[in-house]
Amino acid sequence: MEVIKFKQIGVSFKGSGSYVPEQILTNEKISQKVDTSDEWIQSRTGISERRISSSGDNVTEMGYKAALSAIKMTNWDIKTIDLIVLATSTPHDLFGSAPSIQAKLGAHNAVAFDLTAACSGFLFALITAAQFLKGGSFKRAIVIGADQLSSFVDWNDRRSCILFGDGAGALAIEATNEFDNFLGFDMRTDGERGSFLNLPTKNNRDSIIDNIDFLKGGFSPINMNGQEVYKFAVREVPIILNNLFRKTKYSSDEVDWLVLHQANQRILDSVGERLKIPREKILSNLAKYGNTSAATIPLVMDEAIRDNRIQQNDIIATSGFGAGLSWGAAIIKWG
Ligand code: UT7
Repeated sequence: MEVIKFKQIGVSFKGSGSYVPEQILTNEKISQKVDTSDEWIQSRTGISERRISSSGDNVTEMGYKAALSAIKMTNWDIKTIDLIVLATSTPHDLFGSAPSIQAKLGAHNAVAFDLTAACSGFLFALITAAQFLKGGSFKRAIVIGADQLSSFVDWNDRRSCILFGDGAGALAIEATNEFDNFLGFDMRTDGERGSFLNLPTKNNRDSIIDNIDFLKGGFSPINMNGQEVYKFAVREVPIILNNLFRKTKYSSDEVDWLVLHQANQRILDSVGERLKIPREKILSNLAKYGNTSAATIPLVMDEAIRDNRIQQNDIIATSGFGAGLSWGAAIIKWG
């Protein structure tokens, strides 16, 4: 671990990466499985296709590839990375997948752990990592969002199976004593509304020996009240972002890019309208990937960084929201 010789005051954004599985599931193909249509899915969600993991792809593999790609964009020696935070709800190993990613990267000096906050996970992980950097504990961090929800979708439930896909994204961030490009954040949780979207354990009773039962591990498929989640998102996301604009003294006019969790194009449009941010400033790749949970924000950012839409010093307002219920927002300056 690099010796820290100064008190950092800020965070700088140095690199991005992403990875999606090769296998494509189009709306047309989903309509062979459940009673739906390409027209219905596109008009209600903006999604045309999504990627689905098959053998060889899992959260560790996808997260590793996204992280490696982000590190390549920096000129870092991998051994100088201090921290790896993996946001995921679908780890390859329930004890944590971040350590496997650390090992595959050869980032031997990094502490690595998982963080679970569903679709808010990447934002919560980014905020967590930024606090370690601003506090002076660590200098270099990789924040990964990776999910494989296809393994937990009920593929007979047309109300939810059309939304989700698999993928991973990552950002490389560094502490600096020269400026602070992490301009502000807010985070919220409302467990009272948790039943609107969850992936609960399914405890099948079994016995160890006579009269001693145990509950076998396992999960029920994703359970979602789409309309309630929709209403929650279009109400809470503009509120948290407007509050953050007030707190940071930025206005929505100064925002170059609005980067929302990619859940539904109608949610993106509605939040944009309420914030008075025009459509051309709202990043979207829903058509290609659907909702990849913790991966959506770094995945859509990585595309825009690599094709030079996001430029150095651009102001990005970002918000993640979803199961928990949980939601959060941050304002950052790229670079
Ligand atoms: O990370 C957060 C993850 N979750 C979300 O972001 C979910 C947010 N919610 C949504 O995106 C939307 O609520 C959905 C896309 C899930 C559903 O769209 P909706 O406009 O809210 O549809 P609805 O649930 O109100 O259903 C309208 C109709 C119903 O038919 P009836 O009862 O009016 O005859 C549904 O049965 O559409 C029907 N329907 C479908 N029809 C064709 C529901 N799903 C489908 C489908 N294909 N896939």
